[in-house]
Amino acid sequence: MNVLEAADIEALTDHDTYALVPRTQGDTAFGRTFTDTVFSMHWSPGRKWHDAQLSRLGPRPMHPGTVALHYGQVVFEGLKAYRLADGRVGVFRVDAHAQRFCRSAERIGMPPVPTELFCAAVRRLVRADERRVPDDERLSLYLRPLLFARDESLALRPADEYEFLVMAFVTEDFFGTVRRAVTVWIDEQYSRAAPRGTGAVKYAGNYAAAYQADRAAAENGCDQVVWLDAVERRWVEELGAMNIFFVRGTGSRARIVTPPLTGTILPGITRDCVLTLGTRLGYVVEEAPVSVEEWTSCCRSGEITETFATGTAAGVCPVGEIRSSRGAVTVGDGQGGPVAAALAEQLRRYQRGLADDLPWVSVVPRSLGGRAA
Ligand SMILES: Cc1ncc(COP(=O)(O)O)c(C=O)c1O
Repeated sequence: MNVLEAADIEALTDHDTYALVPRTQGDTAFGRTFTDTVFSMHWSPGRKWHDAQLSRLGPRPMHPGTVALHYGQVVFEGLKAYRLADGRVGVFRVDAHAQRFCRSAERIGMPPVPTELFCAAVRRLVRADERRVPDDERLSLYLRPLLFARDESLALRPADEYEFLVMAFVTEDFFGTVRRAVTVWIDEQYSRAAPRGTGAVKYAGNYAAAYQADRAAAENGCDQVVWLDAVERRWVEELGAMNIFFVRGTGSRARIVTPPLTGTILPGITRDCVLTLGTRLGYVVEEAPVSVEEWTSCCRSGEITETFATGTAAGVCPVGEIRSSRGAVTVGDGQGGPVAAALAEQLRRYQRGLADDLPWVSVVPRSLGGRAA
């Protein structure tokens, strides 16, 4: 049996899309308009990973009895490729995303995609889409790897057949191109993740199960939900699609605190970057639980000077106001503070290749024939 290797993926030929006008032009809202290429490969018990290809992205036939539709055996990732300052294109922290994808697949009983195949697939798609990666600093190419169960059977057991896809779209930051402080809603009704559940992996079901809380947040004029722990309903865990940080004090005495990874929080790759960059900027950085009472009372007293959220989609994003059924609290002056701004700027420098002393960017070779008009 031929074992699929990263080199086979790197050597895949493009389907000819270069003549097309980028469909992404003009519509950069999150996840609405995909590029026209998709990477795919299949897994079966006998052949393992096989049939890697690039093809045109579009509707595909799916049997109504497909396992993924019924029992939710689906995991995904979200990462970005950026136009670097020197004109090349780089994928940000692809290895870390590959490792998290393996952990997600294993937790949901699926065959993990070997990290070298994951990285090769992402890099190959980015090479096919290289001309679509915008020069505009506010935009980037978002990549969505997806693994789902393909069996056409309603037997209640892990499937035998799987498909792995990588698709892409050009996007602005999650909250739009203008950086602003977001308002968050403390959810008191639902739980996102229970101990020993699926909260620490990017399992599709985690997101659908959050929709009712998301709706409540939107109805209360908020951008994101704040999740509390499921047991004591007291400890701040994370936001709907971002990790959370608190800043105590100001200036050189500022301390950055984020909740520890206890198994119910998604270990964000941006969170990991911020822990590293915060230390490098000279702040004391700490992983420690923060209760909702402490958070809100310390914002009122001024002891907590900033709160910010981190994620691939939105980068480092200040939180300006906290709302709940008990009222509203403004964080600092409500506009975001200097610590979040400094971290956002540092992160941007690494994403754009302006700083390269950490191995975070994987440069993708330029496709033939120059950039699209
Ligand atoms: C629930 C949740 N928390 C945190 C994050 C931030 O993770 P990352 O920084 O890897 O994008 C995400 C986004 O993937 C998420 O969905």
